[in-house]
Amino acid sequence: MSMVKVEKHNNIALVSINNPPVNALSRGVRDGLYEEIEKLGTTTDTEAIVLICDGRSFVAGADIKEFGKPLQGRSLQEVQNIFRQCPKPIIAAIHGTALGGGLELALCCHYRVAVPTAHLGLPEVHLGILPGAGGTQMLPRVVGAEKALDIMINGGMIKAKEALDMGLLDKVAEGTPQTIGLEFAQHAIGSRLPLKKVEELQDKKSADLKKTDLFENYRKKIARKTRGFLAPEAIIKCVEASLNMDFEEGLKFEQQEFLNLLSSNESAAQRYYFFSERQAKKIPGLDKKAPNIPVKKIGIIGAGTMGGGIAMNFANAGMPVTLVEREKEALKKGLDTIRKNYQRSADRGKITQEQVDTRCGLIEGTIDFERLHNCDLVIEAVFELMEIKKSVFKKIDAIVKPGAILATNTSFLDVNEIAAVTKRPESVIGLHFFSPANIMKLLEVVRGEKTSDDVINTCLALAAKIKKVGVLVGVCHGFVGNRILEARQSQAMNLIYQGCLPWDVDRVLFNFGMPMGPFAMNDLAGNDIGWDPEKSNGATIQERLCEQGRKGQKTGAGFYSYDPQTRQPSPDPIVANMIKEFNQDNGHKERKISDEEILDRCLLPMVNEGAKIMEEGIALRPSDIDVVWVNGYGWPVYKGGPMHWADSIGLDKVVSKLEKLSSEDQNENLKPAPLLLELAKKGKSFSDLSQ
Ligand code: CAA
Repeated sequence: MSMVKVEKHNNIALVSINNPPVNALSRGVRDGLYEEIEKLGTTTDTEAIVLICDGRSFVAGADIKEFGKPLQGRSLQEVQNIFRQCPKPIIAAIHGTALGGGLELALCCHYRVAVPTAHLGLPEVHLGILPGAGGTQMLPRVVGAEKALDIMINGGMIKAKEALDMGLLDKVAEGTPQTIGLEFAQHAIGSRLPLKKVEELQDKKSADLKKTDLFENYRKKIARKTRGFLAPEAIIKCVEASLNMDFEEGLKFEQQEFLNLLSSNESAAQRYYFFSERQAKKIPGLDKKAPNIPVKKIGIIGAGTMGGGIAMNFANAGMPVTLVEREKEALKKGLDTIRKNYQRSADRGKITQEQVDTRCGLIEGTIDFERLHNCDLVIEAVFELMEIKKSVFKKIDAIVKPGAILATNTSFLDVNEIAAVTKRPESVIGLHFFSPANIMKLLEVVRGEKTSDDVINTCLALAAKIKKVGVLVGVCHGFVGNRILEARQSQAMNLIYQGCLPWDVDRVLFNFGMPMGPFAMNDLAGNDIGWDPEKSNGATIQERLCEQGRKGQKTGAGFYSYDPQTRQPSPDPIVANMIKEFNQDNGHKERKISDEEILDRCLLPMVNEGAKIMEEGIALRPSDIDVVWVNGYGWPVYKGGPMHWADSIGLDKVVSKLEKLSSEDQNENLKPAPLLLELAKKGKSFSDLSQ
């Protein structure tokens, strides 16, 4: 069936695209548009053309699945040229989202109208590419260079009203795309509106040419946020070209930059990630018919950093929360912190004062556990000790209504053991949030042995509702994220035993693209986690640090010393000496270690642990592990995730490097996992398992 259809409405042709689910510009759409618009351009009884889309959205972009494959049929550029050359007004009537190539196509129309709920954007940056169908040349001419840079480099969506204000839309009106499009077309014919062409706009370009520091300042402004990504700089270069070159030349420049990005490893990783995140939502074998449990009211136990952060997620989504603490003082402290966090967002202009009050108003604090009785979901976020967790679950099992979900936010503990103390293990699940819980996007949804399908379905849907990326994992010590983290942290410590300094290891991982290295991370979390002052006798570096009060950022010193004003870390000779002494005391032989070896010794054990996680069925697919690491720990998305990274260097190489490391260290943990050996032997990669 044709993806492009034409319907005549007297002297107006209504051209509609039908390519579910998001009307991507696949070959059939491009060919159909080319043919129909070319024909309509010469059809005498057609005076105007309206372009709309069927289904839930206007065109959401090029078809990403076609990337990297040879072009078939008409190119998008050819289609755009037919639009530009059309002697009759073309009006794009937008609903849903007009994204990427979709917006670029709309920009080749003479007019753009939209329903109020529509969103527009050029999100290509998230795929490691740039808007390669003229977006970098057209958008600055419409909205000005700086706004265009913001839109393309943030890659976010603009609401219809905002788009109207900046001149990206000509009209926003209530109705269907068809009605508002036809109405505008009649107006265009009746008023003999000129054929407005974006490439001919001059005003914004002339004004921008006078702003001499524009690009230099912009580069400085985004440097920190875009570290390691290739696309933002390429976008800036293209926008510079839009000012310094004529339209045709600019398009050629953009095309070259686009192709460079498209063939980069970074873009391949980001496109892999795009599909991985969507794949993580698909759970084989899960009974989709299992009814979702209505979740209207949330209970949270523990008003500490974690509990408070979790509460904020639900309040942000407009859901009422009952936050329970044992003592009044702790409760007050928790509620105060929540308000302070919201207030900080309001002060930065991210939310309004009214939103601060509404959200705080949704969180009811209490020290009365009985108040949890009518909650649909209760999340426990108390101290990480099995006995405490069990006693909390026994208590809530007796209080909370039947059918409600009981969740634990444990980071490491056995969810099955916790579930076993209740009379409803089928209603028990792990919901592992990552700190700071109101910011980090990951939610590990931990399926217990007896957790029912409807509880899992409900929790995955709830993750989306609170704007988290939910990944279903199984029960084991540390689940997916923390188990792999432990593998890395212990090898990072091994490097210290062999003569590396913490800042050497951290520098290598930071340069790789991680937000911080293992030791800066320890300082942030607190070196005293699990430290017992009673038993401490300098047997580990952690003990020696804590004995000297170097518990991390919170005490102003840990592996690093922290500037009291700026909190900037700096390497500390005291720690360097402490390490030297420790190694001497323990007979460790120090040696010079290259950056490449540091990277291998930190990252390869993560891959190995990931392989073991797959063998045990803890993760459903390697790409789920990558989604966990990108969202929970800031693994650079332009390197895909640990499993994609391993694939990109080749599993045979991973195996031989691990074999070398394990024999050098006589360390069983570094021996390649059987799955890794098997895949490497067959010349396969992890992606072969990510179906
Ligand atoms: N190409 C191919 N498939 C796409 C797609 C695209 N551009 N956009 C979405 N899909 C697919 C998804 O993979 C998903 O498929 P499955 O159901 O098989 O998993 C399906 O469409 C639905 O997508 P979502 O689950 O993401 O649905 P949503 O309603 O949550 O979000 C959306 C819809 C906002 C459009 C979101 O899918 C999205 O952001 N898509 C990407 C948009 C984009 O990046 N466009 C630019 C493309 S590149 C380009 O256009 C280059 C250029 O300059 C020419």
